[in-house]
Amino acid sequence: MSMSTKQIQWFPGHMFKSLREIREKVKLMDIILVLLDSRLPVSSMNPEIIKIVEKKPIILLFNKMDLSDERILNQYIKQYEEQGYHTLKIDAQSGKNVNKINALAREVLKEKLEREKQKGLKERPLRTMILGIPNVGKSTLINTLSKSGATKTGNTPGVTKAQQWIKMGNDFELLDTPGVLWPKFEDQRVGFHLAVTGAIKDKILPETEVVFYALQFLKAHYPKRLLDKYGITETDDLQMMLDRIGTERGCLLKGGGIDYERVYTIVLTDIRNKQLGGLSFDRPETLSL
Ligand code: G4P
Repeated sequence: MSMSTKQIQWFPGHMFKSLREIREKVKLMDIILVLLDSRLPVSSMNPEIIKIVEKKPIILLFNKMDLSDERILNQYIKQYEEQGYHTLKIDAQSGKNVNKINALAREVLKEKLEREKQKGLKERPLRTMILGIPNVGKSTLINTLSKSGATKTGNTPGVTKAQQWIKMGNDFELLDTPGVLWPKFEDQRVGFHLAVTGAIKDKILPETEVVFYALQFLKAHYPKRLLDKYGITETDDLQMMLDRIGTERGCLLKGGGIDYERVYTIVLTDIRNKQLGGLSFDRPETLSL
């Protein structure tokens, strides 16, 4: 594997370790739930995820659908489905569509489950685990899934570290430790999209650059939202945009002038908290599957 210095920062050692562990755990599963960020259907996908899963059936769960621009998300979902993936849009926080995962998983595994039935085996919970990059919502989904009458079951032999399984009625046996994978970082744009949405919280990219990127992106793709929220017009350049937000939101320094640090924080917080509506940063015309 060749890596640039920049990439090394994104690949902490413990993640290499987890890659090996995940590969071992995947073997125990009937089906794998891969969590993607609906705002970043490409940037939140690591090709390594697909390699790790190998021949196991998978479902791509597009999480945080509430924060995304659904029109763009649907375009990506169509492309993933054309490539043969099973997909579902969810909001792990509110629980929207989470109750549809079981039916979809059983549909995907129909032939296998049918064979088991013909052998006289009883319907059983499906063994599954959740994989995804940091902050994509893995723990939230585990919590939401396990709210429905879950009981912890014992440790499982065959896994080196003691693993807890959460049994959800007859639906799933869910591994309570999610598989964390790093995002890929080959395209500079991917880095910016991960940073803007808060998928990457470490300050790997300078905040000013991230904010400048975000404002220029919003101006290109969502000018009406910038106008409604901050009074930014199409002719405003970057400096004018920052000044307008600063003035509008009262980010003023004691001695006069705009407190740009506060402006940067406001822009990022507003984007992440849906103050500018659902946004999609990956766009099919510039970031393809
Ligand atoms: P991880 O295990 O994959 O690292 O992610 P985790 O579940 O910790 O979720 C990361 C953040 O994303 C959390 O917010 C979580 O609440 C939020 N989140 C997860 N799923 C959804 C979703 O479908 N919609 C929305 N809007 N948010 C979601 P946080 O700010 O880190 O914490 P908090 O706000 O919950 O305190």
